[in-house]
Amino acid sequence: MKNYLTRRGFIRTAAASSAALTWLSARNGPNVFAADADKPALLGGKPAHIGGWPQWPEWREQWEPDIITILRSGKWCRAGGGPGRVPEFEEAWAKLLGAKRALATASGTTALITSLHVMGVDAGDEVIVSPFTFSATYFAILSHKALPVMADTDPATLTMDPASIECRITERTKCILPVHIYGMPCDMDPINAIAKKHNLAVVEDSCQGWLAEYKGRKCGTLGDLGAFSFQNSKHIPAGEGGAVTGMSDELLDRCFAYHNCGRATGTFKGRGLFTRGGNYRMQHFQASLLLSQIDKLVKQTEIRRANADYLTAGLAQIPGITPVRLPENSRAVWHLYPWRYNPEGFNGLSKGQFIHAMGAEGISCGGGYSEQYNDGIFDETINSTGYKRLWSADRLKAYRESFKDLKGNARACAETAAIYQSMLLADRSAMDHILTAVRKIQAHSGELAKKA
Ligand SMILES: Cc1ncc(COP(=O)(O)O)c(C=O)c1O
Repeated sequence: MKNYLTRRGFIRTAAASSAALTWLSARNGPNVFAADADKPALLGGKPAHIGGWPQWPEWREQWEPDIITILRSGKWCRAGGGPGRVPEFEEAWAKLLGAKRALATASGTTALITSLHVMGVDAGDEVIVSPFTFSATYFAILSHKALPVMADTDPATLTMDPASIECRITERTKCILPVHIYGMPCDMDPINAIAKKHNLAVVEDSCQGWLAEYKGRKCGTLGDLGAFSFQNSKHIPAGEGGAVTGMSDELLDRCFAYHNCGRATGTFKGRGLFTRGGNYRMQHFQASLLLSQIDKLVKQTEIRRANADYLTAGLAQIPGITPVRLPENSRAVWHLYPWRYNPEGFNGLSKGQFIHAMGAEGISCGGGYSEQYNDGIFDETINSTGYKRLWSADRLKAYRESFKDLKGNARACAETAAIYQSMLLADRSAMDHILTAVRKIQAHSGELAKKA
């Protein structure tokens, strides 16, 4: 079933659908009778939410002078060293997270690529990764000609199921790459314990996990290295951008060198081009935007959390809806706010039909990630010359077949529905509209299922 939207497609269409809704409400408005108020919009009732949602990204006039100052300085990038917004942002980001160091990068993808290289991931290695993620997580592994071995997803948490990791470790496994998807922390204690037992590195994909917390510590500081994204849709966006965080000067110096064309720095100073690398640097313009948004990120994280808690309490009462479970003593930041949808609680109304009905209520809703490993990306990978050189035909065949074992992930993909983060910045009455819409659709699900 592909009639629901991917995350980025969902984000792109959110603005368009709020424009469409204005039209829908103007057209339906005069014809709606009071008695229709409780009917779903698809059955002729009034949409639960009229008037759109907060747009993303946001900008403030007071951010502009610093961008102009950088422009006029002619010093737009950090090449050549010296002070500037990039090192200032690195210091602020590390402080905010409680990390020893942060390195700003061109993107979340390059932050992941850098982290994996520094943790020793090389051609022919295997990395155990969460399959329920944005494809960039896989691409970072593939860019090193390593094999992304999928752990299963716990459908209750949507994150890596620690119980599925050990049976996937081989003599080639180098690293575990858990993903704090939608800003929901993975259960890191068992993941770190397995890594320690088998002498593996842990790189956290925290690209959606800005300020998420696990047992009192911030995501991105729980493994060996953490990777963040500041791409346009993110809670702290700079158009593009990323960061690596960690607790070790040596690892961060290696990251710096790798992201700066291999040039030695800090611990390695004087050793010239001592490592491979590339240009994965952030520009001062991006860092200026990020510095301007740190206070806003902190405040908005609390607003998203409060509204998500309110939705969780309301949705938990509705048959067929199960809020996602977080690890004990952890706090999510909700890049998307997901829940699990069970058609049985909705008289057989499919998830696609449910999402369509929510759209008619004025609530753009997406379907989470699909089983992307079936899309062809890994067929192309294992049929490539490089991968055939690096692994035996038997290993690649078994690898391809192992995707069928990802039962928890298949369920997670089938059952997830979600709304986008900026909707959690709307006021409490808008959260009530979301709950009203789901309740209306559930109450009339039999009619909606027949109509579809
Ligand atoms: C989970 C995850 N990993 C990695 C990335 C890659 O980040 P970027 O788009 O900044 O390269 C993203 C960005 O969408 C992401 O959501």
